[in-house]
Amino acid sequence: MSLSNTRVSHKSNKVYIETYGCQMNVSDSEIVSSILLKNNFSIIDDPYKADVIFFNTCSIRDKAEQRLRNRLNNFKKLKKDKPYLKIGVLGCMAERLKEKLIEQEKIVDMIMGPDSYRNIPYVIREADMGNKSVNVILSNEETYADINPVRRSSNNVTAFISITRGCDNKCSFCVVPLTRGMERSRNPISIIEEAKHLHDEGYKQITLLGQNVDSYLWYGGGPKKDYKQAKREPNFDMKKTWNFSRLLDEMAVAVPSMRIRFSTSNPQDMTEDVIDVIAKHDNICKHIHLPIQSGSSRILRMMRRGHTKEYYKDLIDRIKSKIPDCAITHDMIVGYPSETDYDHKQTLDLMNYVRYSHGFMFKYSERPGTYAYRKHKDDVKEEDKDNRLSDLIELQKEHSFGFNKRYVGTNVKVLVEGVSKKSDEKLFGRNSQNIVAIFPKNNNKIGDYIDVKIKDCTSATLIAES
Ligand code: 5AD
Ligand code: SF4
Repeated sequence: MSLSNTRVSHKSNKVYIETYGCQMNVSDSEIVSSILLKNNFSIIDDPYKADVIFFNTCSIRDKAEQRLRNRLNNFKKLKKDKPYLKIGVLGCMAERLKEKLIEQEKIVDMIMGPDSYRNIPYVIREADMGNKSVNVILSNEETYADINPVRRSSNNVTAFISITRGCDNKCSFCVVPLTRGMERSRNPISIIEEAKHLHDEGYKQITLLGQNVDSYLWYGGGPKKDYKQAKREPNFDMKKTWNFSRLLDEMAVAVPSMRIRFSTSNPQDMTEDVIDVIAKHDNICKHIHLPIQSGSSRILRMMRRGHTKEYYKDLIDRIKSKIPDCAITHDMIVGYPSETDYDHKQTLDLMNYVRYSHGFMFKYSERPGTYAYRKHKDDVKEEDKDNRLSDLIELQKEHSFGFNKRYVGTNVKVLVEGVSKKSDEKLFGRNSQNIVAIFPKNNNKIGDYIDVKIKDCTSATLIAES
């Protein structure tokens, strides 16, 4: 949709992209880069030299949106000095706020939701002619399967491959189903081809991405919710159906020298087959990011999570019995509406039960349009949210330290990913469980798999001997 025609014509060429939020956004920015490069734009690293600045945005919590608005403010002066500069907002904030964002943030010229990126070259040309535009139609089909992402900011060792888009879960607090639409899976052949291509380019690790990877289901394309209907068609071929365990299994065989990671798993969709496939292949990393959000059954019901605490604990037990060295990580939300001290204690109890290696913890942030926004009053005091968040962070630190201590005195295999932030003389890498290790450079190179002897640890890092 085109909104206005106000400015002089200019042919933009140099594009700068800034990415916020989740790994999915990182992957999407790589897709956007690829589309732009194919259309003769260049991608540059300096916003002050750009003709076009894109912000790929996140809406998951209010703070993320505020951060973007502050960042936009920083560019007001530049926009004044360079009238031909075009500013675009991509991603979840674009999809959530649509034309409202153009009204609120006067310096924005282009709004593009996550399923509209193929239109980007056209939208830039429209903006060059002075037309502001909003592209926010969500798709049931788009997976960008044919687009080979350009991994400009990567270390040439690790890469993301997105395998599903959207989410059909309706967690009460979450804005993602509204901003990323219906769940659809990408053609497995294109996924495996991309992995092989990365292997040939020298990459050593891929991370399969989706809001809910365990729910992956390819049956020829289209939204997951239409699968039942498709199965009823007379010429439906069951052998052509791929679920997540099949994808993981075939991927592990197709690129045996590459490490495979995946994120995010949802408890209700993680089948026994997936656990078996992780256990079966050495090149599938022994780490599962398995958010539960709360340890209180009452809160889980209010959150409409689709699983109980008992089911989750049983799943954890099954994972640990089949993959004893598996690291499990979490996301937790404190201060969900009506959460009491008793609910909070149950979350701490659950953390003590699982003993996660790491976790991401958040204060509940009310998101307009969600079920929780409509039905549950954001009534937990900010002070209580703060205190509960501190409790969780403290306990997680203890557990992470306990988890890491098990490696002290042992040899650990790590993939060297880069130079340590703290010292040029040191490198860092991760073990299969996704724990970061720091070690001396010696003759090691980025991209090597090496064994390092761990002499010490913190709650965040393994420290190897020189
Ligand atoms: N408030 C706080 N945290 C949220 N998350 C998702 N929505 C919200 C919200 N409204 C967290 C969940 C999710 C992670 C990606 O972000 O823990 O797993
Ligand atoms: Fe949001 Fe739940 Fe989907 Fe995750 S699974 S993206 S928390 S709705």
